[in-house]
Amino acid sequence: MAANKYYTLAEGCPFANSKTSVLMRGKGGGSLGLLQDTQLIETLAHFSRERIPERVVHAKAVGCFGEFEAIRDCSDFTSASFFSKAGKKTPVLQRVSTVGQESGSADTSRDVHGWAMKLYTDEGNLDWVFNNTGCQPVFFIRDPIKFPSMNRSHKRHPQTHLPDPNMFWDFHVGNPEGIHQLMILFSDRGTPESVRHMNAYSGHTYKFTKANGSFNYAKIHLKTQQGIRNFTCEEAIRVSGENPDHMIQDMFEAIERGDYPVWDVFVQLMSPDEAERYEWNIFDMTKVWGHKDFPLQKIGHLTMNRNPQNYFADIEQAAFSPSTMVPGFAASADPVLQARLFAYPDAARYRLGVNYQQLPTNSAKVQVYCPFERDGVMRFDGNYGGDPNYVGSSLQPTKFYQNLKGISPAILSLHTEHEKWVGEVSAYTSEITDKDFIQPRNLWGVIGREPGHQDRLIDNLVSSVKGVKYPDLRKAVYDLFSRVDQELGSKLQKRTEAAV
Ligand code: HEM
Repeated sequence: MAANKYYTLAEGCPFANSKTSVLMRGKGGGSLGLLQDTQLIETLAHFSRERIPERVVHAKAVGCFGEFEAIRDCSDFTSASFFSKAGKKTPVLQRVSTVGQESGSADTSRDVHGWAMKLYTDEGNLDWVFNNTGCQPVFFIRDPIKFPSMNRSHKRHPQTHLPDPNMFWDFHVGNPEGIHQLMILFSDRGTPESVRHMNAYSGHTYKFTKANGSFNYAKIHLKTQQGIRNFTCEEAIRVSGENPDHMIQDMFEAIERGDYPVWDVFVQLMSPDEAERYEWNIFDMTKVWGHKDFPLQKIGHLTMNRNPQNYFADIEQAAFSPSTMVPGFAASADPVLQARLFAYPDAARYRLGVNYQQLPTNSAKVQVYCPFERDGVMRFDGNYGGDPNYVGSSLQPTKFYQNLKGISPAILSLHTEHEKWVGEVSAYTSEITDKDFIQPRNLWGVIGREPGHQDRLIDNLVSSVKGVKYPDLRKAVYDLFSRVDQELGSKLQKRTEAAV
């Protein structure tokens, strides 16, 4: 606190003592409170309103600031300004979270870790709302309608209010497309040692676009320069008990001592023609693109070097959304991504209010002029004064970026100009086929190259599946993993049944 700051009530009235209450003192030490005690009433009333809704998923998180630096001119595949030359730096806010548990839970429990970044670029904010997903950019589902169900099955049972392996496995047996993600979750990479020692992935296919209307599909990978480090199951359980905030502390202290963590940023690029010929559906996030097919190209690095000044203001009030994009970067036709474009701003309006973009941690660091979104709860800028609040004014015509900069409006196009769509509207649920088990089988083989890793994966599964009380459901779990590999399924069965 600055030395010359003196205490006041919230409306500025200087006050002599922050510890007093105005009381009618009675006999024997009893007292009655008075409505005129503004200090007490305001203090209590504000305390009761200190909590905002927790994020429905990704409640527990580590947050900090840093910068992204492009290491080459990427104008061969994107018009995005922050990628336009080597050495260009963009400030970044980062929030890395567990998914299923509440904000007070242990950040080292076995879970996917969310990886959200806000890049404050010189053409507005770009949010990369990614996951670490262990070692591969995949996800549990590919039909967006399943997202709330999947998350509920990972959370607390509606009756017992306990995490429930019956519910968890019941969901995944009924929705086996998540097998690839499950394999990763129960591998060593399901329990990373710290944020500094994990990778992150866009998972979804996005698009890098150019002003001439061309585009490439892209997946983004962030690889830690600190090296991947994971806890064993036993270590993760111990650390979760000893210090449920281990990851927050690790990151905060590393930045405090100047040991700034760095990630290399890579892109995989695929042309629309290649996408049509590729053996995998690139809009299905349960699948990866082979690195041999589409090599990783290094485009920059990310350095996190500043802790929040205030966790609530900087991190809890942050709102990220895949729909927050800049020219040169666009969403693809992945239906899960399409659903997310709606879900995040919707969540932010509920959690923070309709003017959440004005909060300092969320606001763009360039000029914002959006006079057709006005008023609303807690508007705290000038609300565009007397400027027209309707489009097409001749009295005060709106100025546009391309006219001021003398550039083509195409540079600013985000999505539709790049694609022509013809199709039928139909109800669609994806089907499970044997093809869904090919990449998980490959992963099982890769895991087999690391001594003891396959055994650890099975043991990690056993510790969860043994909690399933219905024999038929346990059998269905063994059958699910047998579709990846017979030996995996039978070993899982043998060890689980011995432990039940
Ligand atoms: C249909 C699919 C999905 C839906 C409906 C969905 C919805 C949500 C919602 C409602 C939140 C809380 C937002 C808030 O309160 O501010 C959230 C957080 C988050 N989601 Fe998703 N999600 C989906 C899939 C994904 C996928 C595939 C990824 C990663 C590739 C992901 C990464 C994240 C991250 C990192 C956060 C935390 C953001 C933060 O730090 O504030 N989500 N999601």
